[in-house]
Amino acid sequence: HKRVTKICCIGAGYVGGPTCAVIAYKCPHITVTIVDLNQARIDAWNSDELPIYEPGLDEVVKAVRGKNLFFSTDVDTAIKEADLIFVSVNTPTKKSGVGKGFAADLGYVESATRHIAKVAVSDKIVVEKSTVPCRTAQSMRKILDSNGKPGARFDILSNPEFLAEGTAIRDLFAPDRVLIGSLDTANGRAAAASLADVYGNWVPRKQVITMNLWSSELSKLAANALLAQRISSINALSAICEATGADVDEVSYAVGLDSRIGPKFLKASVGFGGSCFQKDILNLVYLSESLHLPDVAEYWRQVVEMNESQKRRFTQHIISSLFNTLTGKRLAVLGFAFKKDTGDTRESAAITLIKYFRQEQAKIAIYDPKVEESQIWYDLAEPGVVDDVTALKKQVTITSSAYEAAEGADAVVICTEWDEFRDTKLDYEKIYATMNKPAFIFDGRLILNQKKLEKIGFKVECIGRSRLEESFE
Ligand code: NAD
Ligand code: UDX
Repeated sequence: HKRVTKICCIGAGYVGGPTCAVIAYKCPHITVTIVDLNQARIDAWNSDELPIYEPGLDEVVKAVRGKNLFFSTDVDTAIKEADLIFVSVNTPTKKSGVGKGFAADLGYVESATRHIAKVAVSDKIVVEKSTVPCRTAQSMRKILDSNGKPGARFDILSNPEFLAEGTAIRDLFAPDRVLIGSLDTANGRAAAASLADVYGNWVPRKQVITMNLWSSELSKLAANALLAQRISSINALSAICEATGADVDEVSYAVGLDSRIGPKFLKASVGFGGSCFQKDILNLVYLSESLHLPDVAEYWRQVVEMNESQKRRFTQHIISSLFNTLTGKRLAVLGFAFKKDTGDTRESAAITLIKYFRQEQAKIAIYDPKVEESQIWYDLAEPGVVDDVTALKKQVTITSSAYEAAEGADAVVICTEWDEFRDTKLDYEKIYATMNKPAFIFDGRLILNQKKLEKIGFKVECIGRSRLEESFE
C-alpha cells in the first residue's frame, strides 16, 4: 500500500485544526496543509492568537507550523498535492427543509467533495473525518466517480474523531482507539492500511481498528448517543435525589463502582452542551425515522428531551428559591462555555438558562474566563432581530471577574465547572460580603463544598441534592 507523505485537511475548525496539527507533530516526514474557505480563521491559525482555545494546542502548533504544518486558503493546491485528504467540515443540524431540526446538513461535505473531484488529477484517499449519517461515504463516492478527472482514482475511508474539547490534545496523543472504516476490497484495505500507518507513528497498532465503512460511520453516532444518554440518565436520577434526600454524587459513586457501569461520565449537571451530542443524537433520530423505526427514534429523542427538561427544572428551582420572582434581581452567571477548558459556547446550557432568566426580567452579570465578549452577545441575541444587542445590554452585563459579576447579586449560578470557580480558588467570603442577603449559590456543576459555603452564610442549592434534613422527620 501507498505511503502517505502529503496530507490535506479541508476544514480548519475544532476538529481539523487540532487533529492535523497533532499528525504533523507526530509525523515529521509528512507535510500537512490545513485549508479553509474562511480567511479570518486561517489568518488566526497563522498568528499568535489561535482561533480556538485548547490546552496544549499552542505548543503543538508552534513546534511545527512553517516546518511541516501549513494553514492556507489555497484549497486547490492543497488538494492537488495531497495523497490523503481529510474532510473535516461542519455538519450542523438542518435549519430548514426536509429533516429540519434533526437531519445533518451535508451541504459542506458535498461541496468539499465536489471541490476534490474538480481539482484532483492523481489518486487520492478521501477520509470522512466529519461526523456524518450512516452511508454518507456512498454519496461521496458517487460524487467523486461522476465528477472526477480520468486517471484520478478515489478511495473513501471513514475515520471518525472522538476527541473531546478541553482535552483534545491529550485525547489525540493517546486515543482510546482510532477507527478506520473501509470497503472490504483490495483497494479499500490498502487505503485503510495507508491511513493506519499514519496513526501507527504514535498510536499502538492494536488500538487502530479497521472495520467496514458503515460500522465505522455508525459507531461515531453510537458513541455520542451512549455518552449523552449516560448524562441524561444521571440527570434524571438527580431529579429523584432532589425530591427524596438522596445525593446524586453519592449515587454516581455507588453505581460507578460496578465495573459494568464504570465511574466516568456520570456527573450530574445543568445539562450537556457542545456542538456534538445534541446534533448527533438528532441525526440518529432522523436516521431511525428514515429507516421506518419510530420506536427507536423516540427512544433516542428522549435523551435530548431529558436534557431540555433538566435546564427547565434548574431554572424553576432558582425561581422558587428566590421567593418566586426574579424580577429586577441580579444573577451572577459563572461560566458561559459548554464545559471547562474551552472557549466554545455551542449549545452551552448557559445560553438557555440566561434566556429563561431574561424572560423572568432578571438582571444578569456573566463571567467566563475564556469566552470572548462578542461571542456572548452573538449567542444571546435573537437571530434576525435588528439590534437586539441594545435591548440585551439593558438586562445583561459581561464582567471581567467572578467578583465583579457577584457584586450586588442575589444569587451566583455556576454554569460551567471551571477550576477557578472552586471554593479552593475563589474567595467566597469576599463574594458573600458584596452580595444581597440572603445570598444564594446555585451549583449547577457540583463543584462546591456546600457545608463550607453554608458556614460563610450562603444558601446553597445543588443539582441532585435536596435541602431535606438527613434525619427522619
Ligand atoms: P467547525 O465549524 O469548527 O469547523 C469546520 C470548518 O470547515 C469551518 O472553519 C468552515 O469554514 C470549514 N468549511 C466548511 N466547508 C468548507 C469547504 N467546502 N472548504 C473548506 N472549508 C470548509 O466544526 P468542527 O467542530 O471542527 O466539526 C467538524 C466535524 O467534526 C463535524 O462533523 C463534527 O460533528 C465533527 N466532530 C466535532 C467534534 C468537536 O468536538 N467539535 C468532535 C468530533 C467530531
Ligand atoms: C463529545 C464526546 O465526548 C467526544 O468523544 C466527541 O468526539 C465529541 O463530543 P465534547 O462535546 O467536546 O465531546 O465534550 P464532553 O466532555 O463529551 O462533554 C459534553 C457535555 O456533557 C458538556 O457540556 C459537559 O459538561 C457535559 N457532561 C459531561 C456532563 O454534564 N456530565 C458528565 O459526566 C460529562
